[in-house]
Amino acid sequence: MKYKVIAIDGPAGAGKSTVAKRLSIKLGYTHIDSGSLFRAITYIVIKLGIDINDVEAIIHHTKNSTIDFMNNSIYLNGVDISAEIRENTVNTKVSYIAMIPEIRDIVVNIQRKIAANKNVVVDGRDIGTTVFPRAFIKFFLTASIEERARRRYNELLDKEKFTLEEIKKQIIERDYIDTNREASPLRQAEDAILIDTSGKNVDEVVSEMLYYISIKGEV
Ligand code: DC
Repeated sequence: MKYKVIAIDGPAGAGKSTVAKRLSIKLGYTHIDSGSLFRAITYIVIKLGIDINDVEAIIHHTKNSTIDFMNNSIYLNGVDISAEIRENTVNTKVSYIAMIPEIRDIVVNIQRKIAANKNVVVDGRDIGTTVFPRAFIKFFLTASIEERARRRYNELLDKEKFTLEEIKKQIIERDYIDTNREASPLRQAEDAILIDTSGKNVDEVVSEMLYYISIKGEV
């Protein structure tokens, strides 16, 4: 592989995106937040009022849309939707969209295209297992359910509408769907390094990763 891929997988709220972003800046790599691609497609479904069971319509509208990453923002048909994809309406539907094999194929292709000519840090659920099985290094991040729920709750823009308990329930449900779906379920790759981020701050986790990367060789 000419360019390097650093794969980071794990359940919701394990700290993947924050850590991936920081790591990518430290290494001068491009960060691909694959969850944001599934979120962008979910946003299309909500915005157009497509029935979540109407797989054909979801595929059709996804194929007719342009999704781009630029400077850590995500654009749908040229419009920045970085804030919208973090809304809780997207949180509650995204796992259903991510179950659709054809949608997964589209998202895999977007990621591989970006990684074809640059070094990347990619975070998601199936990066080390399906998208980049030959990645330079693979990490699997996890954390206690309490900590993951707290992080996701703090991230919400419209916190006042939800309790921490509700968010915790949603995460448990999402993890269940992500882990038990047929197409590329969430699971730790055999050669992934497991890091429990409970009680650790971003710098501590990034330092740990940089240590493992340095053992692997030049980046
Ligand atoms: O990491 P996140 O919460 O932004 O991810 C949103 C959803 O997208 C998550 O519930 C599962 C799905 N996802 C996936 O199936 N595969 C990926 N590589 C990334 C995310």
